[in-house]
Amino acid sequence: MRFNDTTVFVTGGGSGIGRESARRFAREGATVVAADIDADGAAETVEQIAESDVAGTAESVELDVTDAEAVQDAVDATVEAHGLDVMVNNAGISHTSGPMEEVSLTDRDRVFGVNAMGVWNGCRAAIPHLKEQGSGNIVNTASLAGVIGQPWSSAYAFTKGGVAKFTRSIAGELGRYGVRANAVCPGFTDTPMVQGGLEDHEDPEAARDSLESQYALKRIGEPEEIAGAIAFLASDDASFVTGHELVVDGGYSAL
Ligand code: NAI
Repeated sequence: MRFNDTTVFVTGGGSGIGRESARRFAREGATVVAADIDADGAAETVEQIAESDVAGTAESVELDVTDAEAVQDAVDATVEAHGLDVMVNNAGISHTSGPMEEVSLTDRDRVFGVNAMGVWNGCRAAIPHLKEQGSGNIVNTASLAGVIGQPWSSAYAFTKGGVAKFTRSIAGELGRYGVRANAVCPGFTDTPMVQGGLEDHEDPEAARDSLESQYALKRIGEPEEIAGAIAFLASDDASFVTGHELVVDGGYSAL
């Protein structure tokens, strides 16, 4: 198993891609900390892992990634209890779809706070430990929106492009310490974030059909498929991969 004797901290671990990543890491032997502002969601992830017959274990922590001090405390507590090998900065939010100039400043700040500063806070908390240890890695969840852009989601795309380039930058800083950093860039994935967006349409089924038709595979992704990519980047299978933006988009960007 790839993650025996490995501790993985996953933000946004209470839903969607974060939950499936936590489950995947635990299945492959890891000790997982599922951190989320939604304490019930994180607890549910832990319960699902406990109920499944897997080699790893999990615990949950209620955490707002925009609170730098709280992130530092949660990461330090993990280091103290289990050590830390993999930091997955995955928590993220979207905003109401619309023209750039109509995105409220409140929405802009909310999205920047979670998607950009949340990733910054997670890296800032984990890096000193990983450097001192001389091993381990970081996986940040960016988005296809941060690679090719996403009209009507300008603030979101802005943060995700930033996450991707920030990740490359820290990879350059960390390599000499034996620490890797990569970004995963998913296309649309069937999680509560996307389901909520589709439900806002007048005809959610037609909206889903239209979305899926734009993918080479004629469907959107499953959270398990993104979790598989995150686990790959975090594993020794990717030991020579760092500073990479791994697009996982069912061929959307190939069309
Ligand atoms: P989701 O909405 O299912 O899960 C996001 C989780 O982040 C939730 O559990 C939520 O409570 C948590 N969260 C939100 N704000 C937080 C905060 N301040 N502190 C801690 N946790 C917080 O969404 P999904 O789809 O699983 O998204 C995960 C990541 O993947 C996000 O960064 C998202 O931007 C990214 N992504 C998602 C895509 C999709 O199509 N679903 C596509 C590309 C990227």
